[in-house]
Amino acid sequence: MYKISVIPGDGIGKEVMEATLHVMEALNLEFDYVYADAGDEYEEISGIALPPETIDIVRNSQACLFGAAGESAADVIVKMRQELDLYVNLRPVKSYPGTKSVFDDLDFVIVRENTEGMYIGLEEYTEEGAVAKRVITRRASERISRFAFDYAKKTGRKKVTAVHKANVLKKTDGVFKDSFYKVGEEYPDLEKEDFYVDATAMYFLTKPQIFDVLVTTNMFGDILSDEGAGLVGGLGLIPSANIGDKQGLFEPVHGSAPRHAGKGTANPAAMMLSAVLMLDYLEEHDEARKMEKALIDVLAEGKVVTGDLGGTASTMEMAAEVRKKLESLS
Ligand code: NAI
Ligand code: MG
Repeated sequence: MYKISVIPGDGIGKEVMEATLHVMEALNLEFDYVYADAGDEYEEISGIALPPETIDIVRNSQACLFGAAGESAADVIVKMRQELDLYVNLRPVKSYPGTKSVFDDLDFVIVRENTEGMYIGLEEYTEEGAVAKRVITRRASERISRFAFDYAKKTGRKKVTAVHKANVLKKTDGVFKDSFYKVGEEYPDLEKEDFYVDATAMYFLTKPQIFDVLVTTNMFGDILSDEGAGLVGGLGLIPSANIGDKQGLFEPVHGSAPRHAGKGTANPAAMMLSAVLMLDYLEEHDEARKMEKALIDVLAEGKVVTGDLGGTASTMEMAAEVRKKLESLS
């Protein structure tokens, strides 16, 4: 029995969450769901977007499924990453059949450092304009590198690529690159290489098939993961994981999409794939592959899919179809 915290949040977050939990009922696993509040709607009634009770509920669970927040997203998700020290942001870039992917053969993973770098918030105005400090520590660089190598090992991948700009950012990215190779010595069976971020951005467009696992600092990871999302179809398909030493929080990359909210037209795939990432995190790999396969089959058939995928199905109709496939695989 897994204790899972569930934060549906705002707008389509609630709808894709309901759809995903409906599919998960057909897994051969027991979940103890603990619901928690966060987001714009909760802020309206309570005055606070992320109540301390929610952080406690997530802290006391093994993993969290998060739908989406609206305007309060930064307060909710960024705060949760800090409070729970979720230092890894994991984004798979995988092409699925029946989707508008630029390439149909992509399967790599971006591991982004989530706690420091350019986004630490050390900015100040000066007489000439403003300056920002970029903080790169050995501790954070080593732990994110270790996560990337462990992840590669666990998932049977072969190569880890560090992405940086150490030719210009000699000291900060020097620390990052050295930490990567230092930790890499503990993983003799994995191939290691490092690329400049600008070249990486180009290779994403020209030959992304060369990548397997990428590990990088906060801002480069932010930019590259959105570029990766652009390679494999729309926002309705892209899952992500925020992982720390004690918990993981799994969420679609998309937001509350107010235009779709309340209409039952949102694509639940990104939330479902986030749940698949959660199952892998819980080491339930067989169940993860089954749920992923059920979704892939529905996408490939392209019959019972939502409008963004060219279909006419509602969120829950698509969920029912995925569940039917999943039941036939069990
Ligand atoms: P958004 O991701 O909510 O929606 C952008 C557009 O992408 C939508 O209009 C829709 O056309 C499409 N889209 C997104 N998810 C979809 C799905 N599941 N199915 C079909 N189409 C989908 O981003 P936007 O419009 O920039 O932000 C809306 C709100 O969401 C804002 O209040 C923002 O702050 C919040 N937000 C929350 C995030 C989070 O909770 N992690 C992340 C991004 C935005
Ligand atoms: Mg981003």
